[in-house]
Amino acid sequence: MNTPRQELEARVAQAVQKLFPPAPPAPYVRPCPDPRHGDFQTNVALVQAKEAKANPRDLAAKLAEALEIDDVSEKPEIAGPGFLNFRLKPIYLAEQVARRGKDDRLGVPVAAKPEAIVIDYSSPNIAKEMHVGHLRSTVLGDALARIHCFLGHKVIADNHIGDWGTGFGMILFGFKREGDAEKLRHDPFGHLEAIYRKIQAEAKTDEAINEAAKRELVLLQQGDAENRKLWEQFLKYSLDALEVIYQKLGVQFDYTLGESFYNNALPEVVAELVQRGLARESEGAIAIFSDGTLPPKEDPFLVSEKGEFRNNPLLIRKSDGGYNYATTDLATIRYRHEHFHAQRVIYVVDGRQQMHFRQLFDAARRWGYGDMKLEHVWFGTILGPDKKPIKTREGGDVKLKALVAEAEDRAEKIIEEKRPELSETERLRLARVVGLGALKYADLAQNRNLDYVFNWEKLLAFDGNTAPYVQNAYVRIRAIFRKAGLEEAPEASVILAEPTELALGRKLLDFGDSVQLAADEYRPHYLCLYLFDLATLFHKFYEACPVLTAEAAVRDSRLVLGDVTARTLRQGLHLLGIDVVEQM
Ligand code: ARG
Repeated sequence: MNTPRQELEARVAQAVQKLFPPAPPAPYVRPCPDPRHGDFQTNVALVQAKEAKANPRDLAAKLAEALEIDDVSEKPEIAGPGFLNFRLKPIYLAEQVARRGKDDRLGVPVAAKPEAIVIDYSSPNIAKEMHVGHLRSTVLGDALARIHCFLGHKVIADNHIGDWGTGFGMILFGFKREGDAEKLRHDPFGHLEAIYRKIQAEAKTDEAINEAAKRELVLLQQGDAENRKLWEQFLKYSLDALEVIYQKLGVQFDYTLGESFYNNALPEVVAELVQRGLARESEGAIAIFSDGTLPPKEDPFLVSEKGEFRNNPLLIRKSDGGYNYATTDLATIRYRHEHFHAQRVIYVVDGRQQMHFRQLFDAARRWGYGDMKLEHVWFGTILGPDKKPIKTREGGDVKLKALVAEAEDRAEKIIEEKRPELSETERLRLARVVGLGALKYADLAQNRNLDYVFNWEKLLAFDGNTAPYVQNAYVRIRAIFRKAGLEEAPEASVILAEPTELALGRKLLDFGDSVQLAADEYRPHYLCLYLFDLATLFHKFYEACPVLTAEAAVRDSRLVLGDVTARTLRQGLHLLGIDVVEQM
C-alpha cells in the first residue's frame, strides 16, 4: 500500500517518463510547506526545465496535462516559478483510511530492498555504573532496531559492552586486596567502579601499585586461572545487573559480543593492516595514517593547527604491546561482515566519539569494507537545570537505575492523584508504563544531535509533546469502544465530511512517511512529532464530532476512524519502545 506521497510520486514518474524520456532522476514529491496551498508539491518541472533550458511554468502546465491523477487529487495547480501543488480528494482520503482499517501494517510499506543491519547500542563499560548518558544510546538504539525491523530489514541488535582493557589490571589488583563478593553480587557496577577509582588514584602517586596493577593485567591476558575466574565473575554479575535494567526498559539484544570477544583476533588484525601497508610503526606504537586520498580538510587522519596540517594517526597497538579501542572496533567490523553479512552497521554512540568513528570508517574503507554502510548515529548530552551535564545533588553522575526508579515513583504519585480508586497492582503497572514511557519519549522526542535540559514536570505532563499525552489519546478512543460495548470497529465505509474528520483522516495516511523518515535519518523524533500531531488532531475531532450519538452510518465511520487512529498510535509508540494502557 502506498502512502499518498508515494502514490503521487509514482503518478508523477509515469507522466515524466511519457513527457521527457529517459526520465530524469526520481521525481520528488514532498509535503507543501504551506498547507493552505495544497497537501503535496513537486518541483520536477523546475528541475527538468533547467536541464532542457525551457520555461518551467510551461513544462509544469504540460506535466499537469499529462498527469493521470483524477482518482487521487484535484487538478494540480501551478504555483510560483513552476511548482505543481496537489490537493488530495476527500473520496481518496476516505477510501485510504478504510483500507488502513483492514491493514495490520497501517499503510507502512515494507522496504523494497531489505538489508542485514547491525545496530550497536547501549554498549556500556562493565566496570562503570550505567549513567544517564547510557539512556540515550539504549533508548535510541532500541527504537531504531524496532523501526528497521518493522520496515522489513534483518536487524541484528548487538550490545558491544566494554568488558576488556587496561582498567581490569587495576580492578583485579584492588579486588584481590579489598573486594567484597557480597557487594559484587548486589551492585557489581558500583563496586567495581569504586575499586577502579581508588586504585587509579593510588597508582598516580605510588609506582609500586601501578606496577602491580600492570602485572595483574598481563596475568589476565596470559590466561592466568585465578584472574580469569575473577574477571568472569565481574562479567557475570555485571551482565545480570544489566539484564535487570534492560528488562525493565523492555530492551532486548540478539547478541552481547563485548570487546573481550574480539581479543584473540587483535594481533592478526594488526599484522594484516601492517602487511597491507595500511598501518605502520611510529615511536614504538603501530598506527594508521592518512593515505592522502581525501582533501586535507575532510581527512580524519589530519588536523589543522595554526593553518598547518599535521598527522592525526589512529593507534591500533600501543608501545607496550596493548591494543586500542579502535583495534577492537576494526576486528568487530570484519566479524560483522563475515558472520552477520552486515550490509549496514549503525553505531548509536555519544557525539564525543565522532572523530573515532570518522577514522574507523575510513580505515575500514581502505581495508576493503567500503561496501558496508557504516553510520555513526551520534547524540548530545542530557543537561541539568543549570544547562550543564546533569549531575546529582551531590555532584555525581545520575545513575540510570535511579532515574528509572524515579520515573516510576513520580508517575505513581500522579496516577494516585488522578485515580485514587485503582488497586495497588494496577497503579504500579500503570506507573511503569507511563513513567518509563515518559522517560523514553522525552529522550526520543529530541533531535538527537542537540543537548537537552532534563525536566521531570515537562516529561510527565499530560499535555504537550509527551508520552502521557499520546497515550491518553489512545485511552480516550478505547473508552469510546468500551462504552459502545465493542471490541473492534464495525465493517463500514468511511465518510469524511467535517473539517476535523478530514484533518484526522489525512494525517493517518502519513504514518508510513513518518516511519520512513525516522529510519532514513535515524531520527525517531520525527515519529514522535507525528504521533503528537495525530493525538492533537484526534482530540480536536473528539471535541467537534460526537461518535456514539451520531446516526448509524456516521457513527460507524467515526468508529473506524477512531480505530485506525488508536492502532496507529499504539503501533507508533511500540516502535519507540513505549506501551499503551487501556485506561489511565
Ligand atoms: N563502550 C563504549 C563507551 O562506553 C561504547 C562502545 C560503542 N560501540 C563501539 N563499537 N565502539 O564509550
